[in-house]
Amino acid sequence: MNNFDPTTEPGTVSLVGAGPGDPDLLTLGAARALSRADVVLHDNLVCPDILELAPQAEKINVGKLPFGEFTSQRVINALLVREGSLGRNVVRLKGGDPFLFGRGTEELEALHNAGIPFRVIPGVSSLNGVLGGAGLALTARGRNHGFAVFSGAGQTSNDEIRRWADAPGPIVVFMGVHRAADIAREFIAAGRAAQEPVTVIARGGTPRALVAETTLGTLPELLAETGHWTPAIIAVGIVREHAFVARPLDGTVAVVEDKPLDGELADLMRAMGAHIARPARNAVPHPLSREAPQPVKKEQP
Ligand SMILES: C[S@@+](CC[C@H](N)C(=O)[O-])C[C@H]1O[C@@H](n2cnc3c(N)ncnc32)[C@H](O)[C@@H]1O
Repeated sequence: MNNFDPTTEPGTVSLVGAGPGDPDLLTLGAARALSRADVVLHDNLVCPDILELAPQAEKINVGKLPFGEFTSQRVINALLVREGSLGRNVVRLKGGDPFLFGRGTEELEALHNAGIPFRVIPGVSSLNGVLGGAGLALTARGRNHGFAVFSGAGQTSNDEIRRWADAPGPIVVFMGVHRAADIAREFIAAGRAAQEPVTVIARGGTPRALVAETTLGTLPELLAETGHWTPAIIAVGIVREHAFVARPLDGTVAVVEDKPLDGELADLMRAMGAHIARPARNAVPHPLSREAPQPVKKEQP
């Protein structure tokens, strides 16, 4: 068997998906890359429990908050090239999957142009991780043969939103909370029913997850207070499966002392859906628990 692993080669950058927030959704490949990293450049949406898998590594937060404080993509690219050129084992850790609205291609292009070797470790996207974890199926035999996904961030014009609305089947919108009024108006103008069911999931897979079932017509009203709903996924035409049963401790936070975090009881509680947290003296706020910042800058992530 070939034991060569490029993540152990100094000067390699691994572009790694961290999943939507719940450490249970991290891949084994991601955990392995973290355990070998000299430096981790991570997004804001990456949970502290996941960063702890790289105890030896220098951590650099290069997070971008929509409309808020951010590290520009140009600076992130430059940091990746610099760290790779220093011969360090670099992990670039991104929320969800790096290639789904993650600007992963721009980072790889910068590395390619600088001649730095890289690899990609895909992650569970919030597309399937958040929706599936809340009991929403993207496809179902006999119901829909596909679905559409688009970004509602600023660059997407209202005309484009209306064209997406033509897709035959459910539609999932990322970064669409601030565009709820545009989405509802353009979808209805394109012929979708105002009564069509919509499920919104904010901070999915975290202790502060919110799930709401509404309709296209009432979506703008639901999301009027955008700060309550960031980040969120909007699923048009998909509802929770009837057979879905939440785990008994879903949505709860268990505070335990440091040592039992890896113990049997903590594992059992995790399996039942609880989030395990440290006592307050060591607590690091979960990044997804921050309230949405006020608009100060226009650039989209
Ligand atoms: C810049 S995109 C990154 C998506 C990421 N690459 C992925 O594959 O999930 C950020 C958007 O992903 C969605 N998102 C990410 N994490 C989420 C979560 N835990 N719950 C709900 N939506 C989430 C939201 O639409 C958010 O605005």
